[in-house]
Amino acid sequence: FNDTATTEIYTLSLHDALPICKVEFLDTSLRDGEQTPGVNFSIKEKIAIAKQLEKWGISAIEAGFPAASPDSFTAVQEIAKVLTKTAVTGLARSVKSDIDACYEALKDAKYPQVHVFIATSPIHREFKLNKTKEEILEAIKEHVSYARSKFEIVEFSPEDATRTELDFLLQVVQTAVDAGASYINIPDTVGFTTPAEYGAIFKYLIDHVKTDRKIIYSPHCHDDLGMAVANSLAAVKNGARRVEGTINGIGERAGNAALEEVAVALNIREDYYQVESPIVLNETINTSELVSRYSGIPIPKNKAVVGGNAFSHESGIHQDGVLKNPLTYEIITPELVGVKSNSLPLGKLSGRHAFVEKLHELGLDFTEEDIKPLFAKFKSLADKKHEITDADIRALVAGTAVENPEGFQFNDLRLTTNADETISAAVSLRNEEGEVLEFLANGQGSVEAIFNAIDKFFNQTVRLTSYNIDAVTDGIDAQARVLVSVENVDTDTIFNASGLDFDVLKASAIAYINANTLVQKENAGEMGRAVSYRDLPQA
Ligand code: KIV
Ligand code: ZN
Repeated sequence: FNDTATTEIYTLSLHDALPICKVEFLDTSLRDGEQTPGVNFSIKEKIAIAKQLEKWGISAIEAGFPAASPDSFTAVQEIAKVLTKTAVTGLARSVKSDIDACYEALKDAKYPQVHVFIATSPIHREFKLNKTKEEILEAIKEHVSYARSKFEIVEFSPEDATRTELDFLLQVVQTAVDAGASYINIPDTVGFTTPAEYGAIFKYLIDHVKTDRKIIYSPHCHDDLGMAVANSLAAVKNGARRVEGTINGIGERAGNAALEEVAVALNIREDYYQVESPIVLNETINTSELVSRYSGIPIPKNKAVVGGNAFSHESGIHQDGVLKNPLTYEIITPELVGVKSNSLPLGKLSGRHAFVEKLHELGLDFTEEDIKPLFAKFKSLADKKHEITDADIRALVAGTAVENPEGFQFNDLRLTTNADETISAAVSLRNEEGEVLEFLANGQGSVEAIFNAIDKFFNQTVRLTSYNIDAVTDGIDAQARVLVSVENVDTDTIFNASGLDFDVLKASAIAYINANTLVQKENAGEMGRAVSYRDLPQA
């Protein structure tokens, strides 16, 4: 490891608000992460995530792809307005109108950046772009220079870099640097590389690109072979000084590198990586929970760093050791990542003030108007459950995330078993005026009957693509969280939604109503669809 390189990078503050740090983080949960099937963040959710990412210490946020759709443009614009410390970047193909769209969307950003890319691997050159190597180099020169005429800070990415011939990759990067790029991102677009190979690419480029300017190199890894985090760390070990990824590793296919894992690994193994990150680690759980809630993607119990089991010690030997000295089996303390040991437990007698305090403590996003219905839900939960945990409160807030545009919410559910063993469900929905509508349907099982009844209410063409049940906490009095994914058959869009209740079947009904509400919004033109850069013609 070259210490001089680290010191050099230490002074590399491209704008003075970046914390003086050796490794920056760029989060692309709102762009690459939104490519996850079923994930469709609303603008309100994107702003909440962006603010939380700023709190977490992220140096830059890739807020979207402004040329892709009016919704993406507006989201980037709105995020640019609210962030005061973090740089905001937009994605652009090597197309001038894409760069213009980023420029327009980022006009209000305190620290705007642009991210220009073009594919460089033989397979992409031949089958996607139909361009020669010379034409690719020409396109890079033209568009990075154009971007540089509009932005002080330009990032360039050779898409599918890890399957690009190394000598050509060097030419590509040299061309981008000569044209004015200050960040060079090396995407492992298809999750193909290995840590040793990827680290060697960074070392080779850093050693061979000729420039008298400071250039920051960054990994951008996909997890198809389960190596995204390891690859990102290998890049850092070989001189990369900005890491790109997403929270909880969300993203299409197997997802992106999970930034919370990279951040904690750099902290715990500082002895090995010898770099500092600006990440506020005790905001990690809040950040991860927020993204999980809005993406509708649960965090697996065994997930590194943020999974529910990360700090529980089941085996007797481990428990004995942990009681004597936690460091025997725990390398990460719960406090490091912000897991609080229920510092302010709530129960039946807790008042509104204590409840609001808890919402603040957990970093949850709520408005004044939200407090009344949330507190009412909390009181009814406290009637059924002795101790209300942080997980219960988070789930309670998440459970109210989706509002029916027509004002209809789940009201009640009755089930009957028929003589032929089929089930009849009567599902009723109530609007704000108290009007109740009831729909009846049969099914082979309870869930099928309930969903058939809800289909009658919405009367739209949807297909259930996944259904999962999760217990929010341990114990017999746990609330059930049901997660569903539903496809709008008319548009092929998938929507994730959840429902929460003590009763699994009621939670199922609520989740399915919430998912159908999103489909209804899409059909009414009230909801944009996340458009990937892969959906558009390239350059
Ligand atoms: O994975 C990828 O190649 C990308 C680029 C647009 C950077 O996301
Ligand atoms: Zn990507």
